[in-house]
Amino acid sequence: MLIRATNPSLSTSITPLHLDVTDEASIAAAASFVGEHFGCLDVLINNAAVGGLTGGSLKERMESTLATNVTGPALVSSAFRPLLLKSPSPRSLFISSGAGIASRASAMKAHRLPGGEPYCVSKAALNMLVVQEHLAYGDQGLKVFAVSPGFVISNLRGEDEDARNGWGKAEPGEASGLFNLEIVRGTWDEHAGKFISKDRGVQEW
Ligand SMILES: NC(=O)c1ccc[n+]([C@@H]2O[C@H](COP(=O)([O-])OP(=O)(O)OC[C@H]3O[C@@H](n4cnc5c(N)ncnc54)[C@H](OP(=O)(O)O)[C@@H]3O)[C@@H](O)[C@H]2O)c1
Repeated sequence: MLIRATNPSLSTSITPLHLDVTDEASIAAAASFVGEHFGCLDVLINNAAVGGLTGGSLKERMESTLATNVTGPALVSSAFRPLLLKSPSPRSLFISSGAGIASRASAMKAHRLPGGEPYCVSKAALNMLVVQEHLAYGDQGLKVFAVSPGFVISNLRGEDEDARNGWGKAEPGEASGLFNLEIVRGTWDEHAGKFISKDRGVQEW
């Protein structure tokens, strides 16, 4: 987790914090640190996730994927919400995925991700979490977004080179980072509560 101070005199300072989204004590410690040192939080980006594609039984993969990709963001969001609500313009981004588009018509058109059931289910659930947070806190000024970052080179699908580069189809992460920055800067505020894709804009899911 990285915190960037909003105080202009500290605008270049970055403080790395340890936070395991499956460990409530570490979430609470990180929230306390931010409260003590900054007093409020302007932006929360729930980015952490696991692919859940391999390793262990289906039960183990389902449970660990949902713990990291759904329960974790819900707990992180809950712990940091009091600080977000102290910000004059708080935004909360949940990094989702096209794999979580759950409408039957759209999901049936998607390519099946072998072993991807835990991941797809987790991102569909995350999208619902965004809707619930928007309904609960939107009228208090909290702008919540489900963000689909596109197909990005990373370790999410596995560490071998083919998986990392999405079998030649994934892109470097810079464009996704810039898209998040647009949301952080307010460009998409009128679409708070929705699923926003870097490649397709607002999408029904
Ligand atoms: N890559 C894509 O094509 C793609 C497409 C759609 C959506 N996304 C989403 O984009 C986000 C970032 O994924 P990525 O592609 O950058 O994958 P990544 O390289 O595997 O990054 C995932 C990050 O989550 C962290 N993480 C995992 N478990 C955690 C835990 N319990 N507590 C705290 N942090 C934890 C990992 O930290 P460690 O490295 O320390 O384990 C890692 O930094 C995810 O939400 C993913 O679902 C990615």
